[in-house]
Amino acid sequence: MQFTINDRPVEVEVDLRTSLLDLLRENLGLTGSKKGCNQGACGACTVLVEGERINSCLALAVQYQGRSITTVEGLSDAEGLHPLQRAFIEHDGFQCGYCTPGQLCSAVAMADEMARGIPSHVTGDLTAETIALDHDELRERMSGNLCRCGAYNGIVAAIAETYA
Ligand code: FES
Repeated sequence: MQFTINDRPVEVEVDLRTSLLDLLRENLGLTGSKKGCNQGACGACTVLVEGERINSCLALAVQYQGRSITTVEGLSDAEGLHPLQRAFIEHDGFQCGYCTPGQLCSAVAMADEMARGIPSHVTGDLTAETIALDHDELRERMSGNLCRCGAYNGIVAAIAETYA
């Protein structure tokens, strides 16, 4: 099967039962995406499919044949870390770091959702500006990504600084 992963074409043999997360981690060695609950509850496995965030543990790899997938390894570029990654460091947006790749991917997609005016299901359709300045809205939109260390204040501060 063929995929584009972090802007590179990838061709790989895949068992039909393989999850996208296992494809990334086990077949391709992209271990940034983490396996936490493996049942769609924690968000540690979040990756982007053409900019949309998904829990890769719940996705069969075959469903994404031909699609463009971005993992945490693809967020940085030749210039260095993504601005959000730098903000996470600056604001202590992690402790053990296990949830961080999923948090980063999810926040990148969330910022795009806000820019496109996609409302959250709780707070309705605020303007992009209002959403960016409202930490409650950020917490709601990031609620699919759990942090067992409780680094939420740093995570929200880093996202707010990057996208406000
Ligand atoms: Fe996929 Fe927890 S490992 S949501």
